[in-house]
Amino acid sequence: MIRFVVAAAFGIIVLGVIIVIFFPFWVKLVIHHEIILRKGSQAFGWWAKPPVEPIMRVYIYNVTNADEFLNNGSKPILDELGPYVYVETWEKKNLTFHDNGTITFNQEKIYIFDESQSVGSEDDVVVVPNIPMLSATSQSKHAARFLRLAMASIMDILKIKPFVEVTVGQLLWGYEDPLLKLAKDVVPKEQKLPYDKFGLLYKKNGTSRDNVTVFTGADDITKYGLIDKFNGKSHMTHYKTKQCNSLKGSDGSIFPPDITKNTTLYVYDKDLCRRLPLVYVKDIVGADNIPGYRFSPPKNVFASVDENPANDCFCPHGPPCSPSGFFNVSLCQYDSPVLLSFPHFYLADDKYRTAVEGISPPDPEKHQFFLDIQPLMGAPLRAKARVQLNLAVSQVVDIKQVATFPDIIFPIMWFEEGLDALPKQMTNLMGLATTVPPIAHVSLSSAVIIVGLLLLLVAIWRLVRGAHRLSSLQLAPGHMGAPQRKEKDVQMSNVHKN
Ligand SMILES: *[C@@H]1O[C@H](CO)[C@@H](O)[C@H](O)[C@H]1NC(C)=O
Ligand SMILES: *[C@@H]1O[C@H](CO)[C@@H](O)[C@H](O)[C@H]1NC(C)=O
Ligand SMILES: *[C@@H]1O[C@H](CO)[C@@H](O)[C@H](O)[C@H]1NC(C)=O
Ligand SMILES: *[C@@H]1O[C@H](CO)[C@@H](O)[C@H](O)[C@H]1NC(C)=O
Ligand SMILES: *[C@@H]1O[C@H](CO)[C@@H](O)[C@H](O)[C@H]1NC(C)=O
Ligand SMILES: *[C@@H]1O[C@H](CO)[C@@H](O)[C@H](O)[C@H]1NC(C)=O
Ligand SMILES: *[C@@H]1O[C@H](CO)[C@@H](O)[C@H](O)[C@H]1NC(C)=O
Ligand SMILES: *[C@@H]1O[C@H](CO)[C@@H](O)[C@H](O)[C@H]1NC(C)=O
Repeated sequence: MIRFVVAAAFGIIVLGVIIVIFFPFWVKLVIHHEIILRKGSQAFGWWAKPPVEPIMRVYIYNVTNADEFLNNGSKPILDELGPYVYVETWEKKNLTFHDNGTITFNQEKIYIFDESQSVGSEDDVVVVPNIPMLSATSQSKHAARFLRLAMASIMDILKIKPFVEVTVGQLLWGYEDPLLKLAKDVVPKEQKLPYDKFGLLYKKNGTSRDNVTVFTGADDITKYGLIDKFNGKSHMTHYKTKQCNSLKGSDGSIFPPDITKNTTLYVYDKDLCRRLPLVYVKDIVGADNIPGYRFSPPKNVFASVDENPANDCFCPHGPPCSPSGFFNVSLCQYDSPVLLSFPHFYLADDKYRTAVEGISPPDPEKHQFFLDIQPLMGAPLRAKARVQLNLAVSQVVDIKQVATFPDIIFPIMWFEEGLDALPKQMTNLMGLATTVPPIAHVSLSSAVIIVGLLLLLVAIWRLVRGAHRLSSLQLAPGHMGAPQRKEKDVQMSNVHKN
């Protein structure tokens, strides 16, 4: 009986140790199983139609001294207008599962203007550089002179000016641009510029026609949510190396789970024209006390090739390459000289900010790009994707309209696409998934081990008491234990003899 109890006690203690060691592993398995994109699962529903309300805030740099800038060579004086706020709804449409653990979809984003949170209306009039025109003139810099002169006369006839006066709504969602219209009518069909309207977010309100294929995690959880193919292509072709052409990043909605402080996350965005790496910054506590990690692009993400040689691959036609703090997306923008940076030229040389008037010094709190993530599940808790759009204008003296427009990196606008909080139903589940396992781990393993130890103590106590009784009974004849054993021995030896 006592031997059985001792064995049971040891068994229970071993079980406790096994629980201590393997419990986190089991929790991971359960979490992995739950987050995989499977038809009908909760995670799939949340992924396809997130019950969140992303908010886009747009800030436009209104040019208040366009004439003095062109005629008198003054610095541009900018007035940062914003935020103009759009509430978004996201849904993934045309979902098609494939046999190999991938799923293809078209992303839908609907933007609804929210005047109550905005500084003004979509009808506010702003003055901004004429991006189609300045793109065309900057590009013509290396063309034949007669082409530039021809361009100048066409622009004269069409009365195209280097600054346009448009409403905020037009600037974002599109306005008729005479130059684009002309290009569309004149330039052969297969050559670029598919639109005759220009807008910074033109055609972005609605379902994207891009077919995105991502991994569901069913075959390999380490690829969960990563892009397999974008419009049927498994990599870009703009850049010099495979690494820089890679699309293997998240679209921002879900990330491979089990993120550590050493993990580099990647986000791919078509308009960013590359994967953006994100690295650990600090621990944070999100809404409803859910702990997580903050990830941000490394400080040298857009550094010049001198400062960060790894960026050389993003400069296929250089040198010269874009200066520190800027990323050249011209290859994804029909060769327009568009440079992306962080808002207020965060992480760029201060001389770009002070080349214009009216932009305050960058403040990481307001201008840094970041993502807060729940590391076990790879679920974003909060995010602010912040990017500034700049036009790298080259002076072209042959075109009289822009002859006095100097070489300058002209900021146009910046925007923030943010996720501020998750709905209660999501945080509740995440809270469960993150707080219950550690508590369950400690309580279950300690309970089991305590039971085992108690049992062992009882057994030992009985043994000790038994031993006492044994020693006190030793003198008495007819004792049960020892003689029996002797008998057995005798029997055994008899067996051997036979
Ligand atoms: C933008 O600047 C122009 C002057 O260049 C001004 O007329 C206009 O009112 C400004 N827009 C807003 C919304 O302040
Ligand atoms: C441009 O500069 C000239 C002389 O420096 C001055 O007379 C003129 O008023 C300025 N024009 C504007 C629009 O400020
Ligand atoms: C995708 O969905 C849109 C409308 O939601 C539809 O017009 C289009 O034909 C669909 N494409 C495919 C390939 O199913
Ligand atoms: C999975 O299948 C889809 C559709 O057949 C294909 O486009 C994709 O390249 C495949 N992906 C992998 C990783 O095999
Ligand atoms: C986006 O499209 C929806 C309808 O699909 C419309 O209600 C909304 O006003 C549009 N938003 C903008 C900013 O044009
Ligand atoms: C997306 O897929 C559909 C059907 O497979 C195809 O008709 C369409 O051209 C694709 N879109 C793009 C942008 O490649
Ligand atoms: C991160 O990587 C460093 C070395 O690359 C290693 O020493 C450290 O233990 C790692 N930390 C984690 C949390 O994996
Ligand atoms: C941006 O890239 C394009 C194409 O590679 C190149 O022609 C242009 O000079 C670059 N612009 C800057 C400012 O680096």
